[in-house]
Amino acid sequence: MAIPRFGEIAVIGVFDSGSGGLTVMRALEHALPTESFIYLGDHGNAPYGNRSPADIYGLTLRGIERLFGLGCSLVIIACNTAAATGLRQLQQTWLPHKYPQHRVIGIIVPMIEAITGMPWEAEAAPMPPSDGNPALHVAVCATQHTVNTGAYVTEIAKRAPAIRVSQQACPELAKMIDDDAGDDAIRPFVRAYVDELLARQHDVPDVCILACTHYPLIEHLFREALPPQVKLLTQGEVTAASLRRYLTRHPRFSAAPSSEAPPATVYLTTGDPRHVSAVAGRFYGRVVAFQGIA
Ligand code: DGL
Repeated sequence: MAIPRFGEIAVIGVFDSGSGGLTVMRALEHALPTESFIYLGDHGNAPYGNRSPADIYGLTLRGIERLFGLGCSLVIIACNTAAATGLRQLQQTWLPHKYPQHRVIGIIVPMIEAITGMPWEAEAAPMPPSDGNPALHVAVCATQHTVNTGAYVTEIAKRAPAIRVSQQACPELAKMIDDDAGDDAIRPFVRAYVDELLARQHDVPDVCILACTHYPLIEHLFREALPPQVKLLTQGEVTAASLRRYLTRHPRFSAAPSSEAPPATVYLTTGDPRHVSAVAGRFYGRVVAFQGIA
């Protein structure tokens, strides 16, 4: 099957190492029903979480270039591991040099906007320390690689230095979710990671970010393991709200609502399309037909 061309219509690229980004993709489609998307999952090289930074950066650039080649001039990296590794670098060096008219955005900053309640684009001064109130304590659960980069710690410190951040690597989870290991197998791992996180703290975190796009599938297991007062945040809706604001500010990346062609989403994979299509429904909530891309 040939990959449809969108011609003059703006189409937004969504890149992920595999299927996790579908949890973001479904929120984007729901929140922005007039937009068209091309989703590219690099299943042939997933998971990224335990790879070297150079590998992840190279694979991410290749995925983005593929989406550019298919006509997307805006790409969202719907993978924390990829965004944490090289988004800043590619935005500051690679993109302006090679594709000055194109844009790549990630899913870390939208989450920080949501926690601080401050839109990033405001270029406002960092959030002041809260007078007298104890500073917010945010826990970040993510892949080993995302934790190693410290991307959430750095980005939160820039915006809201008073917020305290604790991180917990959960190295087994993305692969177990990909392998459809089932709740009974995954539950003890989630409990052990949460226990490890809490044992290192003097107080219970106020908020826990599930900073891997696979984890919404096991949000209920994190809910079980965390104390009830901890607020859990996932990235789908937060990213969709941020993208909506972005498109309002940059309408050239948005399909005109009056456009003749109905909005469409195309799903591409570097892996085996039959296998990927068979598992994608767990992430997406409905059947999705992937096409292979060499
Ligand atoms: N879903 C990816 C993320 O958000 C992790 C999966 C992987 O390791 O490739 O970090």
